[in-house]
Amino acid sequence: MSLSINPIDPVSRPFFAGEASGIDITRPLNREEAAAIEAGMDQYGVLVFHDQRFDDNAQMAFSRSFGDLELATGDLNFHKGRRLESAHMNDISNLDLDNQVLARDSRRRLFSLGNRMWHSDSSFKEVPAKFSLLSARIIPSAGGNTEFADMRAAYESLEDELKAECEDLVCEHSQLYSRAVLGFTDFTDDDRERFKPVQQRLVRRHPSTGRKSLYLASHAGAILGWPVPEARQFLRDLVEHATQRKFVYSHAWKQFDLVMWDNRATMHRARPFPSMEVRDMHRTTVACERSTMAEAA
Ligand code: OGA
Ligand code: MN
Repeated sequence: MSLSINPIDPVSRPFFAGEASGIDITRPLNREEAAAIEAGMDQYGVLVFHDQRFDDNAQMAFSRSFGDLELATGDLNFHKGRRLESAHMNDISNLDLDNQVLARDSRRRLFSLGNRMWHSDSSFKEVPAKFSLLSARIIPSAGGNTEFADMRAAYESLEDELKAECEDLVCEHSQLYSRAVLGFTDFTDDDRERFKPVQQRLVRRHPSTGRKSLYLASHAGAILGWPVPEARQFLRDLVEHATQRKFVYSHAWKQFDLVMWDNRATMHRARPFPSMEVRDMHRTTVACERSTMAEAA
């Protein structure tokens, strides 16, 4: 095995965001390779692989090395017409069913702008996401970075009193909250039912490394037992703390990059790009084994 993993920025972020090389992950992995990649994820939280020419089937096969795949039920149009064939593929593009750039006022486009707020994937599902794997099929000529924040470092750098205050808090997460922040409230009754709030612990302990992290997302809109404005103000302060530049890696995409991240230990957000250009990214998502409530019990 010639896989090697090194920090992308060894000076300012030696423990967060690694670059993997010496491996073709589009072909079947052996057990040793899968274990080495999982160990790299535990250490770095984010791994970047360059020049991996995935199709959807190969991307799903690689992703399954790390657990069961989620269904893409967080997509606004999951039950309607979909551009991507498999129900396990999240369509992170700005394209319609005919591969044309979505109109500025398209409901799908406006919903997807929610990805530009800091979040952790599927925190709005009772059993949230473990790893996300994003494959860059077509990228715009400029912009469109994805930024990642290290939520372990964010937790570890809190004052002890604040750590203690956070320790047993439980938040409610929903896509209804994150979209409402942007003024997107155009939900059907069916959407409202599907996106009903779920409970998540604010502090979680990583099942492999034992490191604690802050589990935050734009989807978090309430804290159990707290008045809503007080909860939202408190969560905003925590997000502001956690997303200081010293905790952030900004990924500038090359075509055929595959970036994978651990949603239990990071947040991420998309950055803007020229709106008439195509950006076509395909995401697979590995589910956690249990809810954060069960994890803590
Ligand atoms: C995602 C996501 C960010 C981006 O795929 O989950 O948030 O830059 N993507 O597209
Ligand atoms: Mn995301």
